[in-house]
Amino acid sequence: MREIRTVGVVGLGTMGAGIAQVCVEAGFETIGREVESSVGEEARAQIDHFLTRKVEKGQLDAEAKDAALGRLSLTTELDSLAGCDLVIEAAFEDLAVKHEVFGALEDAVAGDAILATDTSALSVTQIAAATEHPERVVGMHFFNPAPLMKLVEIVRAERTDDDVFETAYAFAAELGKSPIRCSDTPGFVVNRILIPLLNDCIRVLDEAGVSPEDLDTAMRHGAGWPMGPATLVDLVGIDIHVHASEALYEKLREQRMAPPPRIVRMANAGKLGRKSGQGFYDYGD
Ligand code: 3HC
Repeated sequence: MREIRTVGVVGLGTMGAGIAQVCVEAGFETIGREVESSVGEEARAQIDHFLTRKVEKGQLDAEAKDAALGRLSLTTELDSLAGCDLVIEAAFEDLAVKHEVFGALEDAVAGDAILATDTSALSVTQIAAATEHPERVVGMHFFNPAPLMKLVEIVRAERTDDDVFETAYAFAAELGKSPIRCSDTPGFVVNRILIPLLNDCIRVLDEAGVSPEDLDTAMRHGAGWPMGPATLVDLVGIDIHVHASEALYEKLREQRMAPPPRIVRMANAGKLGRKSGQGFYDYGD
């Protein structure tokens, strides 16, 4: 297996920032790349905020926090990732965007660097097709919020090398996560099950005339969910959930995968959940 010392994270939205946080906390030098430097700075501020909360709650000492933040550097150039042993892509969920990123990454990094994607609903095999060496491409699917969720799905694409696959698995374990090995099937393991389930929950709102609050109470106290489905979809992002549902529906053609009209309307109206201040719930300013 290969040794990972320096990690690149491409895309510093919610998932990318969370992944970068996990990497610096675990002691890895991490270079985060965003097209706009202001977005990179927002990610750094978010990481700083969550690490500061850990210090305030006695879960981390102040020196460790400073050291973790010191391991994070930001760039707007993919070429700056040249020295990375592993790059985790968490860019926009669009195959054309992923192809552009992976094509450029392959030119930037060393021949033995591993390229991972955090895609949740696209095919890792199709993403890897943009590269000359698809055997170095693997899926590393983190869950939202990445610093808190233990699972990482390590996804073996059609042509992933065994060595690359096992290195990604071992790296996720080094991050303190609980990785699983899985195949490149639509939705992998969790989203294959969770997306239609969440869509059922949203349909129940209308079918049974239930409020989001009561739906959440029902699933928390009647099914043991840590967070109710309306709160969870607001956290994930209404747009992200609609997009993932559409991508899985396109592949599997199961009606339950299709996004319910209610959340398509919400997405169209810009009610994107927590990040936009309004979703099933209002989040103020
Ligand atoms: N990053 C880092 N730290 C965070 C954070 C984040 N995004 N969000 C919260 N925290 C920290 C905060 O500092 C918070 O403490 P504070 O409120 O005192 O500042 C601390 O975590 C604890 O937060 P909570 O008290 O809210 O923690 P809980 O014990 O309630 O657990 C949870 C939170 C782990 C998120 C739990 O509610 C849970 O498991 N929810 C379900 C989440 C889930 O199912 N995610 C999967 C979504 S599907 C997905 O990601 C697939 C993708 O492809 C779309």
